[in-house]
Amino acid sequence: MKRSPIEVFSEWATLDKDFGMEQNHKRSVENMLTFALKQNNSFSFIDAGCGNGWVVKKVGENQLCNYAVGVDGSDKMIEKAKTLDPSGSYVCADLMSWYPKKPVDIVHSMEVFYYLENPKELIKQIFDSWLNNKGRLIIGLDFYFENKVSHDWSESCGISNMKLFSENEWLDFFKVVGFQSINSWRFGEKDGWGGTLIITGLK
Ligand SMILES: C[S@@+](CC[C@H](N)C(=O)[O-])C[C@H]1O[C@@H](n2cnc3c(N)ncnc32)[C@H](O)[C@@H]1O
Repeated sequence: MKRSPIEVFSEWATLDKDFGMEQNHKRSVENMLTFALKQNNSFSFIDAGCGNGWVVKKVGENQLCNYAVGVDGSDKMIEKAKTLDPSGSYVCADLMSWYPKKPVDIVHSMEVFYYLENPKELIKQIFDSWLNNKGRLIIGLDFYFENKVSHDWSESCGISNMKLFSENEWLDFFKVVGFQSINSWRFGEKDGWGGTLIITGLK
């Protein structure tokens, strides 16, 4: 029987499988951060679906970062993030109903958006309420239509309700919501593996 993403990832946190996920996502996230931080200005940062907080911890150590917060719907992931990074800021909340107290310059998210009830709606909320003017949303996805080897993940991981969209569908979500300077690329593409689909745009 399939379970919700929050149930499954809470179990992963308890079993320490979050550390394997960190290793698997590391190179793609480095690629995303290199792109998002290339301006060299001071910035504030949200990691949407932060897991055990490894990205918030890393970004928080950047001299130019004046504020970083991680949000995740799994209380087990957030407990773990607070243990691994006691001085970091972490919130347990459903991304669909959470709003930051103050808008930020960069919203980052790795391997999260296809688990959401309505990814397009969250992209709109981020545009409307999470980002400063000229702020950037950047997301990384390994589960998407063109990456054929990912198609059975809902079955193999036993996770319900995973949304399989194509690259163009994801790009359309960014466009209709109003993002400008939209870019997408695949990172780490190799035999049979489509790579991480990275999509970004500016408010
Ligand atoms: C594949 S993990 C990625 C975690 C982290 N970004 C990383 O790269 O290690 C997906 C994360 O999204 C969180 N998540 C899924 N749906 C969510 C929702 N509706 N609200 C908040 N978090 C959610 C899960 O709890 C999980 O920690």
